[in-house]
Amino acid sequence: MMSQQVTVVGAGVIGLAVAWRAAAAGHRVTVVDPAPGRGASWVAGGMLAPVTEAWPGEETVLTLGERSLRRWPSFARELAVDAFEPGLSEAGTVVAARDAADAEQLTILADYLHRIGRSVEVANGRRLRSLVPGLASAMRAGIVVPGDLAVDNRQLLDALQAGCTRHGVRFMRESAREVAPKQVVTDSGEYDSDAVVLAAGARSALLHPELREAVRPLKGEILRLRARKGCLPPPAVTVRAIVEGRPLYLVPRVDGELVVGATQYESGYDEAVKAGGVRELLDYAEQVYPSVSEYELAETTAGLRAASVDNLPLIGRLSDGVIVATGHYRNGLLHAPVTADAVLAVLADEELPDDVAAASPARDRKEERV
Ligand code: GLY
Repeated sequence: MMSQQVTVVGAGVIGLAVAWRAAAAGHRVTVVDPAPGRGASWVAGGMLAPVTEAWPGEETVLTLGERSLRRWPSFARELAVDAFEPGLSEAGTVVAARDAADAEQLTILADYLHRIGRSVEVANGRRLRSLVPGLASAMRAGIVVPGDLAVDNRQLLDALQAGCTRHGVRFMRESAREVAPKQVVTDSGEYDSDAVVLAAGARSALLHPELREAVRPLKGEILRLRARKGCLPPPAVTVRAIVEGRPLYLVPRVDGELVVGATQYESGYDEAVKAGGVRELLDYAEQVYPSVSEYELAETTAGLRAASVDNLPLIGRLSDGVIVATGHYRNGLLHAPVTADAVLAVLADEELPDDVAAASPARDRKEERV
């Protein structure tokens, strides 16, 4: 392999995963980001959940997610060798519905998965409560998906930065203003390299003209709650729920925190946490797992997902000397391993597997649901 000078713009989970793998493969890597390990990846719930994020018409997103999920255990092991464990949880996921209309949404998902050859266990209230003691008695129907996992997003980001440092990645703590062929422009100057990897999440749209219409910010707020003395502890598995037609998730961390997410709306590049967003999340979380009303509200945060028009990321060569790795929508943590592998393959001029090539930025992009 020819060692190349690679500049990665963006140090969220995608940029850091690319930088770590590229440096481990022998490339000379610089990462440009004013605040490495922050942004949407820092805010995320950490679900690695291609099945429970699936939706009719989005088979390519599902297939890509499943490929990346298969890669996750070895990715985590490799990171543990180079840095430390990223906090992969194999506890699995249950999804619960509150009323008949919410249950109907789950039936659509279960029927769709069945039609395309993925089976999920359909569960009644008693089965759900055997897996999640403390689940509200109003949650009557659900599905069980042991294969949908979770990772501690913040531990992962720390581990990826340590892995980068171990392999000599250089960090430039400043904002990119523009990405041109083989060049990144920042406030301090113009920096040339053999290849630029544009992995700046929603901000990628501001950095390259071809991404202006292709990627947009989709705001999400989350809460971090902490069980107080005497409270029922958080669930042992990831609990997703549909309440009044809205999706909610509760993702436990080993340190006792519970990440509750997430709102989702178009609000440009605004990252303020709205009082109404917090109220909505607290209200729905309490309807799903009533004990949370006694928990400490430890943190509220907002981040910007990078949404593409068809909910599939954009991974591949954008132009000579520019590789794009953005638009991961709700799946950035899940897609990190497959994206890093794909960028390495593009750097080596290797062909991508069909389900990864489907995410080419040159594809015909048609609008899907948001
Ligand atoms: N991955 C879940 C979310 O984007 O809220």
